[in-house]
Amino acid sequence: MTPKTPAAGTRAPAGKARRTQSLSSSLNLHDRLFSTSRDREVARAVDDGIERLEARLFAEVKFSDELADVAARYLLEAGGKRVRPILAMLTAQLGDGVTDQVIMAGASIELTHLASLYHDDVMDSAPVRRGVPTAQNVWGNSIAILVGDLLFARASKLLSILGERAIQLQADTFERLCLGQLHETIGPKDNENPIEHYLQVLSDKTGSLISASAQMGVIFSNAPVEYEQPVIEFGEKIGVAFQLIDDVLDMSPPVEDGTAQPTGKKAGTDVRAGVVTLPVLYLRKRAKRNPEAAALLKRIDAVATAKPGDTVDEAAVDAVIAELRAHPVTKATIDEAHRWARGAVEALAPLPDGTVKKTLSRFADTVVDRTN
Ligand code: IPE
Ligand code: IPE
Ligand code: MG
Ligand code: MG
Repeated sequence: MTPKTPAAGTRAPAGKARRTQSLSSSLNLHDRLFSTSRDREVARAVDDGIERLEARLFAEVKFSDELADVAARYLLEAGGKRVRPILAMLTAQLGDGVTDQVIMAGASIELTHLASLYHDDVMDSAPVRRGVPTAQNVWGNSIAILVGDLLFARASKLLSILGERAIQLQADTFERLCLGQLHETIGPKDNENPIEHYLQVLSDKTGSLISASAQMGVIFSNAPVEYEQPVIEFGEKIGVAFQLIDDVLDMSPPVEDGTAQPTGKKAGTDVRAGVVTLPVLYLRKRAKRNPEAAALLKRIDAVATAKPGDTVDEAAVDAVIAELRAHPVTKATIDEAHRWARGAVEALAPLPDGTVKKTLSRFADTVVDRTN
């Protein structure tokens, strides 16, 4: 793709209002009826931590180069849920709480996540992210990729302050994330079960970073070392659930102006780009014995194989996506996400009973019940 004139001083188009919301309020941490004073203390610690995190993130994406500066702030200003650092702040409650190191670790994770979004949108040909046109649609592929790289560099700088353990954990995590994206791109080998392959992709591309967030919270709050393994397993499993729900939300209908969904993305980005997710894999399985499933699959494959320049009947594509959304395979995907979330909560068994375990369990519920 030819880059669109990236003149220095190019301003990003005005985005919608930032969509970052306090996840702690959606976790019901503030709900006085059900919470103890310790619950409210945790809720306040997370809210305060989010403010410190935001300040740190915006400080970390400043560049003296004007284009780099504008383009690196672009998606950060557009919104985001900050799920990963919030998880680190929650697991940090097992130790000394949201220390400055936890904030730095959370910021490095969020920058890694942010960078991966710049790259992912190029790979998935996504038109909209966080309610604004994707970076490659504003500046072209090369700049979107380079800005992602700049953000990885800034994440590395933060990790170097945190020390070797953090660098090593990040390197291992990032390797898995990239391999997950690679394996999603190339698909299963002939002798591989497509559904097992897909779930491994989700663990690697999404579970790895969410799990590392949970682990960093334990490490950088100086919590007892025996809490690490349970939160690693929790993060990995809730990460898979998170991504399965992401795949379902990808099919939500647009809101307001008809461009983006509550997720801030375009409805049906996966189907349009030919990214195969669990609902489609389930449909493929059913299509072997069910002509109605086979017919829908044929229409999905036709959308995915449309070439640039082909006239696309948008209404027909929307209809295919709506049909997939309403199909039992989507419900089966949601059920699978709930199974992973239950597994995540079970992994917390070795943790002491109390507020932290309870809030992590609510975090798991929030992940599977979310709408954005
Ligand atoms: C999107 O992650 C990419 C996935 C791994 C599913 P989020 O849903 O956390 O994206 P933001 O940060 O809130 O935009
Ligand atoms: C994104 O996966 C995973 C990473 C960025 C590593 P998706 O491609 O499913 O995420 P969305 O739906 O674009 O946010
Ligand atoms: Mg992708
Ligand atoms: Mg994507």
